[in-house]
Amino acid sequence: MKHSLLLIATAFASVAPWLPARAEIVNVSTPNTSLILDAEKGGDLKILHYGDRLSEADMALLKEAGAINRSAYPVYGIFPQAEAAMSVTHADGNMTTAVEVTGVTSATAPDGATVTTVAMRDKVYPFDLNVNYRTYPGEDVIETWVDVKNNEKGTVKLNRFMSGYLPVRYGDVWLSQLYGTWANEGRLSQTPLNHGVRMIKNKDGVRNSHTAHAEIMLSLDGKPQENTGRTIGAALEYSGNYKLFIDTDDTDYHHFFAGINEENSTYNLKKGESFVTPPLALTYSDEGLSGVSRNFHRWGRNHRLHAGNKERKVLLNSWEGVYFDIDEPGMAGMMKDIADMGGELFVMDDGWFGDKYPRDNDSSSLGDWVVDTDKLPNGIQGLLDTAKANGIKFGIWIEPEMTNSVSELYEKHPEYIIKAANRPATEGRGGTQLVLDLANPKVQDIVFTVVDTLMRKYPDIDYIKWDANAPIMDHGSQYLTADNQSHLYIDYHKGFETVLNRIREAHPDVTIQACASGGGRANWGVLPWFDEFWTSDNNDALQRIYMQWGTSYFFPAIAMGSHISASPNHQTFRRIPVKFRADVAMSGRLGLELQPKNMTDEEKGIVKQAISDYKSIRPIVQFGDIYRLVSPYDGKGIASLMYVTPEKDDAVFYWWKTETFMNQQLPRVVMAGLDPEKTYKVTELNRIDNEPLSFEGKSFTGKYLMSNGLEIPLTHKVDYHKNTDYASRILRLTAE
Ligand code: DGJ
Repeated sequence: MKHSLLLIATAFASVAPWLPARAEIVNVSTPNTSLILDAEKGGDLKILHYGDRLSEADMALLKEAGAINRSAYPVYGIFPQAEAAMSVTHADGNMTTAVEVTGVTSATAPDGATVTTVAMRDKVYPFDLNVNYRTYPGEDVIETWVDVKNNEKGTVKLNRFMSGYLPVRYGDVWLSQLYGTWANEGRLSQTPLNHGVRMIKNKDGVRNSHTAHAEIMLSLDGKPQENTGRTIGAALEYSGNYKLFIDTDDTDYHHFFAGINEENSTYNLKKGESFVTPPLALTYSDEGLSGVSRNFHRWGRNHRLHAGNKERKVLLNSWEGVYFDIDEPGMAGMMKDIADMGGELFVMDDGWFGDKYPRDNDSSSLGDWVVDTDKLPNGIQGLLDTAKANGIKFGIWIEPEMTNSVSELYEKHPEYIIKAANRPATEGRGGTQLVLDLANPKVQDIVFTVVDTLMRKYPDIDYIKWDANAPIMDHGSQYLTADNQSHLYIDYHKGFETVLNRIREAHPDVTIQACASGGGRANWGVLPWFDEFWTSDNNDALQRIYMQWGTSYFFPAIAMGSHISASPNHQTFRRIPVKFRADVAMSGRLGLELQPKNMTDEEKGIVKQAISDYKSIRPIVQFGDIYRLVSPYDGKGIASLMYVTPEKDDAVFYWWKTETFMNQQLPRVVMAGLDPEKTYKVTELNRIDNEPLSFEGKSFTGKYLMSNGLEIPLTHKVDYHKNTDYASRILRLTAE
């Protein structure tokens, strides 16, 4: 169904007799959702409805039914008791703002995206505030953001500048959010919204998705369900510090706000200057949490993720295989091994660079992006040639936003680092890591040049792993003036975007991974320039089920780097058979993170089969619709999900046992997302059992699979000495 965006001005008054004659109804509709606003000239912008798409008849009776009818973007000052989305100190010191609508415009870009802008101005001060809404054909996501312009005589201080606000009717509303930490990212928390304020925030300065995520879901019908129930999703598209909060006060609404974290970030707008907030993406589905995920995934792949419609390669990354022990024979061996197993790309991680200070560990060399010729006598070209000889592509690790106090870059330019005046710089990883000040245009040039030089010299580089392993450790910019020190967090990320725009203009085709000490940069504000993110430095397959489950709420499998690592695992020391490790990794963007020469031939055989099977299901995993079935967080002993093509003619079903007990009782999993009328043939992938499953090669209707599922055996039928405490299954369901 085509999306429609209607601007029904005064004419709408005839179908909505309760509206004043001057009322201007702005109907921002998508195929299945409606955001209805009242943008009456001279009045405040009001939100009337957000949720299911409304018919004209229902829209006409909104008031009788009880429209929201609250400010769509509350500003601070008049009746200051309520939370506001924006708070401003005007040039003369006045702390109140009171805006009125001056007009509504709508423009459609060549890619079909339509932006509706409600223009507002303070009733007294020449301070402009526009609220924007963007929709895309066929997508159920609405992005909203504001831009302000200071036309006053002096500087205006922006004290708070949220991207958006949404009132949600008070009720049995549950919040789903992600929390965690390094090596345990993307944990899911689901709790009811009680009275008071719930805040989700980030203050790292550089990375923003380790400890919390800038995305939430709100389930409106009580305890969250995966495939039923009215659910709102919200994702702040921003790479820097954020604040999301929900104030459940004494009104009939839960008040949701999201935007840049304003703490210690007052932004001074000089006369004539503008400020644009990052977008907040909103979506709604009556198909539960998975419905919201599907909306985000589809919109993200089509409109946000860089090259979101291009298949991702199966890769081997060198980090856990050799850590800093990079050398030419070692790299060549890994390239041959991944090529032999059917992989398509080899990525050389940290440790390849440094001249005066070779990068042998994490205490030096960042910023000195020249090859260490003791380790790699034939340089990057030699590695590219070896990759080519093996029929695979080559990728490389960099960490361009950073330096070490032990580096030639720092020796030459100590003024480029982030540092507070009159104090020594705090040093991070390795005891010497420092963050470059991206607010400084000269630093932006340096960071751009790292990538540009590599790509110009070696255009065959196919993939860059862009890492970032430090937070902002001192609030201080050597570039910003004393009165603008509070701009640091924001200007760092403006600089980051400027650099990324330049990189993408010059090098649109190279695949770039957003890695940041593992999963520190999983955010839609990062992905327009990156093809994927590194989900976590923890590759333990069992723990990954939980992390990837949470991450999948907002991000599609195509963007989620998911690697088969060694056993025992390097983070948890857990021993997990390679079959299970492969079955988990195959639910994201499959890769390997180990030293292949330490694998047994049998393990190599299983991985080879897994890579081949993955290639056959890659379009379903990377472009399909997700249906989560049984959550690992529900403690049922299993987790299960599936991906289904939009045409519902092909699907992959994943089933992982999350705990093992003798004579355990596990639920039978009922599938979802299939066409009840179609018949699907079942084929097991990555099979290790001595005999096929009873339903192997048999066909079942979608209706049967969605009301009964299939009985999955609790264990594998393998030779006695091969039994382990792990079991998992991947089933392909092909419509006949
Ligand atoms: C942190 C990343 O998350 C790892 O994958 C690896 O690239 C190291 N940095 C290298 O220093």
